Amino acid sequence: MKKMLFLGARSPNICKDAVMERVLVTGGAGFIGRSVCSELLRRGYAVRVLDSLVEQVHGDCARPADLPLEVELINADVRNGHAVGKALAGIDSVIHLAAEVGVGQSMYELERYTSVNDLGTAVLFERLIDRPVRRVVTASSMSIYGEGLYRDQDGALVEDAERQSAGDDGRGWDPLDAHGRPLIPLATPEWKRPSLASIYALNKYVQERTTHIMTAPYGMEGVCLRLFNVYGPGQALSNPYTGVLAIFASRLLNGQRPMIFEDGAQRRDFVHVADVARAFADALALPGLAGGSFNIGSGQDRSVTEVALELAKAMGKDAVEPDIVGKGRVGDIRHCFCDTSKAEHHLGFRAQQDFGVGLAELAEWVARQTAEDRVGEARAQLEARGLVA
Ligand SMILES: NC(=O)c1ccc[n+]([C@@H]2O[C@H](COP(=O)([O-])OP(=O)(O)OC[C@H]3O[C@@H](n4cnc5c(N)ncnc54)[C@H](O)[C@@H]3O)[C@@H](O)[C@H]2O)c1
Repeated sequence: MKKMLFLGARSPNICKDAVMERVLVTGGAGFIGRSVCSELLRRGYAVRVLDSLVEQVHGDCARPADLPLEVELINADVRNGHAVGKALAGIDSVIHLAAEVGVGQSMYELERYTSVNDLGTAVLFERLIDRPVRRVVTASSMSIYGEGLYRDQDGALVEDAERQSAGDDGRGWDPLDAHGRPLIPLATPEWKRPSLASIYALNKYVQERTTHIMTAPYGMEGVCLRLFNVYGPGQALSNPYTGVLAIFASRLLNGQRPMIFEDGAQRRDFVHVADVARAFADALALPGLAGGSFNIGSGQDRSVTEVALELAKAMGKDAVEPDIVGKGRVGDIRHCFCDTSKAEHHLGFRAQQDFGVGLAELAEWVARQTAEDRVGEARAQLEARGLVA
């Protein structure tokens, strides 16, 4: 194994004399992966990607144009043990991003999601037994929390909030306490118990636990980053299953109204992909992180309607009102946003990207793209199975 490069937020300058560490990024051709690769190259790592370039994300593209040329791309499936073994040759650490990504779709394509996300992670770690690396950093997700942390009207913290369906009693979508009083959403810290409300959430939890279970016994370090809603240029605009801002952007680009489930008041944390890429690079390099799971978000919460309106404005489509569907999707959560204090303490992580500037940059990128609007098709898939109500 090569000598470790120690390059993080606390030591941003590239050390020319250090031996180059080699990193394998699974799923590295994807939206987050490409930014992670660029950040790693900037910090002096050599980068190899294993990615099967799934059609839903990449269309028929053989190599994404914004995957840096210095990145070695192996087009292979993470479930292919032989290919993974070869991809691990000479590698010092791994960032594991390869996944099927989509809460709604995971609720009917169970085999595909569980196969890629759970089995793929198992295959990776089985290969790592023969070729252990210094550290594995895995992308987990805020989806594992289910509903975020809440406080009731008497000040008690509530970890197991259950959401309402507006149709039930007309009181709205927000979780209530036992007396029927609305709970108050709080920033969600890592200690909140997971509550797995979708197959995707279950998959991400399996990936996270597999990372922690399989690293220490084999002399490796495992770190997981629980990402909140990641946005930025490069997210697949024609994929209607993931990335709410990309989905809204695709609708607006095609002259359609952004489609918002429930009443649009659900709150999320939107974090820019460049901040996420820095977090992965730091999580790879900084000492004392082994066994840890860290929230990565902006620390600011926004309603989904708010972001749809702001995006429309940034794209010069102020006149386009969002279409508030008034129905919810099975597996969706009401409110979850990020408590960043643990990541701040251990990773020195603070999101740097201003949301308005990030949206302007996204709008500028979107204007240069074409996108097929497949949102109606995705909704029809859910409705056909009774997953929208
Ligand atoms: N985007 C978000 O908001 C978000 C939030 C939380 C967690 N995450 C996690 O971050 C990671 C990256 O997500 P993303 O937004 O970049 O998604 P993405 O779909 O753009 O990237 C995923 C990549 O994995 C590849 N892939 C899929 N199946 C594969 C397989 N069987 N073998 C090899 N490669 C395969 C895809 O081709 C794609 O390039 C995922 O693990 C996702 O669960 C993303």
